[in-house]
Amino acid sequence: MEITIIGTGYVGLTTGACFAHIGHKVICVDNDERKIDLLNKGIIPIYEPKLDEIIEEAKRKNLISFTTDMAYGVKNSKVLFIAVGTPPKETGEPDLSYVENVASQIGEHMDSYRLIVEKSTVPVKTAQWIRTTIARFNKKNVDFDVAVNPEFLREGSAVDDFLNPDRIVIGVENKRAEEILLEIYKPIKAPILITDLTSAELIKHASNAFLAMKISFINAISIICEKTGADVEMVAKGVGLDKRIGPHFLKAGVGYGGFCFPKDLAAFIKIAEELGYDFRLLKEVANINEKQKEYFVKKMERVLWNLKDKIIGIWGLSFKPNTDDIRFAPALDIINLLKKEGAKIKAYDPKAMEKTKEIIKDITYCDNPYDVCKDADCVALITEWEEFANLDFEKIKSLMRQPIIFDGRNFLDKEKLINLGFHYYGIGKK
Ligand code: UGA
Repeated sequence: MEITIIGTGYVGLTTGACFAHIGHKVICVDNDERKIDLLNKGIIPIYEPKLDEIIEEAKRKNLISFTTDMAYGVKNSKVLFIAVGTPPKETGEPDLSYVENVASQIGEHMDSYRLIVEKSTVPVKTAQWIRTTIARFNKKNVDFDVAVNPEFLREGSAVDDFLNPDRIVIGVENKRAEEILLEIYKPIKAPILITDLTSAELIKHASNAFLAMKISFINAISIICEKTGADVEMVAKGVGLDKRIGPHFLKAGVGYGGFCFPKDLAAFIKIAEELGYDFRLLKEVANINEKQKEYFVKKMERVLWNLKDKIIGIWGLSFKPNTDDIRFAPALDIINLLKKEGAKIKAYDPKAMEKTKEIIKDITYCDNPYDVCKDADCVALITEWEEFANLDFEKIKSLMRQPIIFDGRNFLDKEKLINLGFHYYGIGKK
């Protein structure tokens, strides 16, 4: 199948690369010349495991190409996926002008039947707007369908998630669109849910909101655990063994981040408001998430007494491991809260330092996790990168001014650290 993907962000690029990997011929279009230039040179503008390998392989097989030429992309594929960004406006609503712009260009350039698939995360009812916009610019009166195919991939495991999904959701209005999408996804083994456009859009909102709710729920429980002497990991395990609840997304920590949950939740709350429903449950989910970071800093303050002039080491800046993405990363908020208290920050992240340097200038960036600890009054693990689990903690203890570790992800070996003489503070435990 010939497929054009418009937008080469996380979702667009992964989708394009994975479609090529399963044998389709893919054109990736983006209006960012620099990005397309890099991709044409074989440089992947984001860090995502396996993505470079499958793009290289697809290039070798001549199954993927990159262009800024929208007309070319529209004219050369029957199926067009819209995967452009929908960044949040100040109000929390997503900015849909990129989606509109793409839809109008599709309308202008298409010259025979096209199936246009909404892949970007957008407010419910956007597919209707896409159809209306394409129709307005469709001067040649070409036949077309609109479909919705939300993406559930996670950064850091995007390729695996795409190729082995829990489910594929396809929102369509007729058999013709359904058959094309079923054909595209044929090589992927997963349950497929065929639904109407609006339900498919709501499935995406509801999924992300539910996952964020699970995280905030366990984070709230972690505070009760700290106050009562229970252990949140045990509680999560016991709760998660109930099949009706399940074990996933019950890891307490410093809060969720990334470009999906915070932004999608804000958007969903806003949409509900516009529909006349005050989604207070989700407002509280977001509120608990904000408070979780403040609570973490307060805990540091309780242990260290005064934060002013204390040297605080930070391990991990990205919003989660295996990505260089720092958008809405808890580490950034925590660093800013600590800076406000006058603390001096030293930080290290395996992949996200370049991006962080662009927005936080007045902290010390270290070349490795050990340098972070030199003369530090404490070190705080914010992102659970695998490399932090296997450090030489004896060496670390000898480097630090005070052997105090705050484990914001309950990731390190507590017993081992205590035996080495560290003061260890996890989340939701004694
Ligand atoms: C999330 C969803 O998991 C995907 O299904 C969805 O497709 C994507 O958003 C999207 O809408 O595009 P992502 O943001 O990449 O994916 O990352 P997650 O693995 O979901 O993690 C999000 C945040 O939650 C991270 O900061 C992570 O540390 C945190 N988290 C996750 C927890 O604090 N506890 C958990 O138990 C799980």
